[in-house]
Amino acid sequence: MNLEPAEHSGMGRKAQDGSRGAPRRVLPPALGLLLPMALLNALLYLFLAWVFIAPTPSAPASTHCPRGHFRMGQMKNCSPWLSCEELRTEVRPLKRVGEGAVKRVFLSEWKERKVALSRLTSLEMKDDFLHGLQMLKGLQSKHVVTLLGYCEDDNTVLTEYHPLGSLSNLEATLNLSKYQNVNTWQRRLQMAVDYVSIIHYLHHSPLGTRVMCDSSDLPKTLSQYLLTSNFSLVVNDLDALPLVNRSSRTLVKCGHRELHGDFVAPEQLWPYGEDMPFDDDLMPSYDEKIDIWKIPDISSFLLGHVEGSDMVRFHLFDIHKACKSQTPAERPTAQDILDTYKKVLNLLRDTVMSQTREML
Ligand SMILES: Nc1ncnc2c1ncn2[C@@H]1O[C@H](COP(=O)(O)OP(=O)(O)OP(=O)(O)O)[C@@H](O)[C@H]1O
Ligand SMILES: [Mg+2]
Repeated sequence: MNLEPAEHSGMGRKAQDGSRGAPRRVLPPALGLLLPMALLNALLYLFLAWVFIAPTPSAPASTHCPRGHFRMGQMKNCSPWLSCEELRTEVRPLKRVGEGAVKRVFLSEWKERKVALSRLTSLEMKDDFLHGLQMLKGLQSKHVVTLLGYCEDDNTVLTEYHPLGSLSNLEATLNLSKYQNVNTWQRRLQMAVDYVSIIHYLHHSPLGTRVMCDSSDLPKTLSQYLLTSNFSLVVNDLDALPLVNRSSRTLVKCGHRELHGDFVAPEQLWPYGEDMPFDDDLMPSYDEKIDIWKIPDISSFLLGHVEGSDMVRFHLFDIHKACKSQTPAERPTAQDILDTYKKVLNLLRDTVMSQTREML
């Protein structure tokens, strides 16, 4: 800290007033000016340190509950997941807040708390719905939306409600004047760290190596993640998470239809040219490296276009280039990317801090 003026301000020096008998402390006029400046300097420094390095505040209850239980918001104790009976009688749907191919999502009320009630849209999608529920149950952690209850008979799932909605709303949310203080490259890079942490968790999950298949374009991918009130990320839609099992040589395919475009990994595209019609049986399968291919695009979206985003992009150039390797095995792992992101975050924070120190 640049507290030099205070440390060397001569506060300890004594001055004698010759007209009186007892010695008295007297500040020379220059010091009288220096002292408030030094104090201001220190306060400004502390403020900047808070802005630049304050960690994202986390929810008070971050330790997890035993399986089959949940805790959210200010709840002190863990509660068991709500049963069919409780879901039917205690949960009151208020308004629809989202809809996808599988679920219709309602902001609802449970014991004066806001919750999200998801209902299956059509029985044709029941398998995906049940797969998503199974994943939600097995993957409860800080990376995944909190499950509050479910009822298979009614095709309903209850989860914690996140008022800022999905990542699709990120730009609109961060552009609100009340969030200008969080619309910084630091917070946005932290969101990219959260995102890659989620992918890392899915690739090393308690349910094995899981691939985030519900991500065939950028808007679709963004809609599967929620922004929490403290601007961290959780994954919400786990309806398409097939398992890669290297020991049994099981690879995956994301759906049974032909995929197009360069958002998806090259190995997800039909490899036999336009002359040969797409045939799912002939389509080769692939592994979790398809998630790595997509990381640069999602991170770039998360970084947005604020002061400093391009500087971050510059520092991430090499790792992002490696993610776009045509050969899946040559792409880095989520852990490699996470290490690089964290290194860049710390490096740039240190640079900004030392520049700030020089300015003061
Ligand atoms: N807990 C929640 N809090 C706030 N909004 C939510 C919550 N859960 C879902 N939503 C909103 O509802 C939308 C749809 O949810 P979800 O992705 O789970 O549906 P889906 O039918 O499975 O989607 P898909 O078409 O990708 O299969 C989300 O993108 C989000 O905007
Ligand atoms: Mg979805």
